[in-house]
Amino acid sequence: MMRPLTQLIFVSRPLGFEAATLRAILDAAHRRNRAAGLTGALVCRADIYLQMLEGSRATVTACFGRILADRRHSDVELVWVGDALRRLFPQSSLRDDPPHAWMWGPAEIRQGAARQAGAAAYRQLFDRLAESPRLRQPWEG
Ligand SMILES: Cc1cc2nc3c(=O)[nH]c(=O)nc-3n(C[C@H](O)[C@H](O)[C@H](O)COP(=O)(O)O)c2cc1C
Repeated sequence: MMRPLTQLIFVSRPLGFEAATLRAILDAAHRRNRAAGLTGALVCRADIYLQMLEGSRATVTACFGRILADRRHSDVELVWVGDALRRLFPQSSLRDDPPHAWMWGPAEIRQGAARQAGAAAYRQLFDRLAESPRLRQPWEG
């Protein structure tokens, strides 16, 4: 029997969002995710983090435990967790993009759109992200 693949989605609010902070988060995440066989994607802007993590149930659980305790963000909400047949981001230990034009804009985020959206909307968002080319962060030029 194949061990199930688990996917987890969370949303949170960055604290002290700047290029160097994001770089430090991503460096640690790439290193640890590669070692643990985790993949995923992080959508990030000063007002929001949205992440999908995928891997074995045990490694996803352990990683989310560390993420919950991380003081570089707050108001972490677990949006969805479940089994999946295949990875959405098999090539990326943690792809990072700023929000795409078709995602929530800053005004919608301020009005609570991401907090009110259901799990199905988030799953569609990551399905669509997986099909879209990566967007550079503003400071990547
Ligand atoms: C929004 C956000 C997403 C993160 N995603 C991951 C991740 O996918 N994998 C990971 O290992 N750490 C991630 N981290 C960092 C962890 O919270 C933690 O700092 C990191 O795992 C290093 O832990 P260590 O200092 O015990 O090695 C994330 C942190 C934040 C704020």
